[in-house]
Amino acid sequence: MADVVLRNLAKRFGDTQALVDLDLSIRDGEFVVLLGPTGAGKTTTLRLIAGLEKPDSGRIEIGGRNVAAEAPAERDVAFVFQQYSLYPHMTVYENLAFPLKAPVRKLSAEEIDRRVREVARMVRIDHKLENRSTRLSGGEMQRVAIGRALVRRPAIYLMDEPLSSLDAKLRAELRLELKRIQKELGSTLLYVTHDQVEAMTMADRIGIVAEGRLMQVGTPREIYGNPANLHVAARLGQPHINLLPADLLPGGQPPAGTKTVGARTEHLDIIVGKDANAEIDWIEHLGDQNHLHIRAGNHKLVTLADPYLAIAPGDRISLTLRDPLYFDAGGQRLS
Ligand SMILES: Nc1ncnc2c1ncn2[C@@H]1O[C@H](COP(=O)(O)OP(=O)(O)O)[C@@H](O)[C@H]1O
Ligand SMILES: [Mg+2]
Repeated sequence: MADVVLRNLAKRFGDTQALVDLDLSIRDGEFVVLLGPTGAGKTTTLRLIAGLEKPDSGRIEIGGRNVAAEAPAERDVAFVFQQYSLYPHMTVYENLAFPLKAPVRKLSAEEIDRRVREVARMVRIDHKLENRSTRLSGGEMQRVAIGRALVRRPAIYLMDEPLSSLDAKLRAELRLELKRIQKELGSTLLYVTHDQVEAMTMADRIGIVAEGRLMQVGTPREIYGNPANLHVAARLGQPHINLLPADLLPGGQPPAGTKTVGARTEHLDIIVGKDANAEIDWIEHLGDQNHLHIRAGNHKLVTLADPYLAIAPGDRISLTLRDPLYFDAGGQRLS
């Protein structure tokens, strides 16, 4: 495993500036997640590191070496693609063993067998080693695809939304598994996704990307609690952060220059039927919690509420801010 450093990376495709001066250092053994919407430049970043694309400018270092002149095979990276591609005519065992059989690796048959079985156990596919890869469910295929990367011990694992094609339950399971395996192996991992839950739960550090730019890098707690700007604040949190004019609700202490107040659930206090300044529009019942849709003046807010809170559409409430986030006219955070 190794440190990976990206310096001023830029890449353009025709009229599209896919990446703009991207700087990122990934420490040895670190799990970094790039979080951003479709088209943000996530796949391009991984492809540049893997050597599948050439940057227009900038530098990529893996373990201290500049890899600009190295072909993909020389770079010592393992890539898990968004669309898993297994060898259909091979068994699960053969798929997992394949990356280890390259002549340059010079591994003994015993060593290959040991690694295949070890990784198969890790990704919980050891009971299906003799199955044809076409005879697997989507979740099992994806486990094999991840396993095929894990049998190698590269400088860095690059994973491109590897869980996005799976159903919610399996995604939640594999997210935990992947984090556990990464810890166990001490591997360096760059994972890209548009799913904020994956980023929050797996990352040591999250990098927020938008339109080819890295907007902020930090631990999940830093990114969530201390966002640098409106864009970053809006990427995290469910329901979505409420963006309100500075003077809409009482309770805050907006610093000079405040244009927008950002209020998540934890920044809003609700009292029913006292000095009302807002009204419940409707309530979405999710079972363990409710989404309250609230109208305050001409503004709509959504917040989570305890299912035991006795409240109904049409009820008048008092809504107060508690230590919300403040942003200036340019969207930059004020403190
Ligand atoms: N081979 C390509 N040719 C033309 N445009 C591309 C190519 N690859 C990516 N792009 C464009 O670059 C931008 C970033 O793409 P990508 O890195 O795939 O984003 P993401 O993975 O975050 O969805 C997008 O606007 C995309 O359309
Ligand atoms: Mg992509």
